[in-house]
Amino acid sequence: MRVNNTVLLSLALVSSSVASSLPGSQYFFSNPSADATSGFRIPTVHESAIQARRILHLENIGTLSTVFPSENAFQPLEQRPSGLGGVPIGLMDYYADCEPDSGNPTILALDIATSFKNVAAGSNITLSLRWHPQDGKWHSAASLPRFSLVGHLEDIDDDASKVGLATCFVKNHPDAAYWLPGNRIHTSRWVRLVVEDIYWIGGFGDRAYIGWIPVEAYQNVTQQDIDDCKLPGEKSSSWGWSEWL
Ligand SMILES: *[C@@H]1O[C@H](CO)[C@@H](O)[C@H](O)[C@H]1NC(C)=O
Ligand SMILES: *[C@@H]1O[C@H](CO)[C@@H](O)[C@H](O)[C@H]1NC(C)=O
Repeated sequence: MRVNNTVLLSLALVSSSVASSLPGSQYFFSNPSADATSGFRIPTVHESAIQARRILHLENIGTLSTVFPSENAFQPLEQRPSGLGGVPIGLMDYYADCEPDSGNPTILALDIATSFKNVAAGSNITLSLRWHPQDGKWHSAASLPRFSLVGHLEDIDDDASKVGLATCFVKNHPDAAYWLPGNRIHTSRWVRLVVEDIYWIGGFGDRAYIGWIPVEAYQNVTQQDIDDCKLPGEKSSSWGWSEWL
């Protein structure tokens, strides 16, 4: 196959300017060993927890990962290819940061959606998020923070808190007003993902923490911490918590 020389040349130019901002490849997915120095100060676990909580607050879409139940747990009426028992599936879903004291994301669970069917059949669940810079500049996606919240779903029972949740959720997702609990088309209910473990990849390992964040550190983060934190490529440091609630 013949490749146009101009294309090759521009690829080389792009990749050399990109390469200058990249770490050694041994640090793409892991931190330096204790005796190696990277020249960067790697954020602490606490600082990483603050970033995670700010991302949770500024983003509102993530990926829910669940596992298909085995065939015999499976409802016969439903059409599904065979051999999917135990196979993981990650699907986009809406969430909102409506319980900022705990950092447990609020989710509107639709009974007909695969993620919630799998959970009802006994699957575990994680919510994976990643930070999308707002400044319109090019960023290496591999350099940006992303994380997974491991936990379990819990129904939100209190009617008073449901009103507040609906307001908060619809502010994040105006279209979700059409499938709030009580709508005529789909059965839905409010759930929280009770966060138990956090797996964090802050970016390249020579300048970001990669590893588990203890749930105490995640819950410990204060509103002030979150307000004071600025993520890479964030549009303005004045994007405070108060504007979003
Ligand atoms: C869910 O995770 C737990 C570990 O926390 C594991 O023991 C259990 O088997 C998992 N359930 C399923 C259905 O995979
Ligand atoms: C949580 O905060 C308390 C009080 O500020 C502190 O003593 C504790 O070490 C913190 N725990 C973690 C895991 O950060």
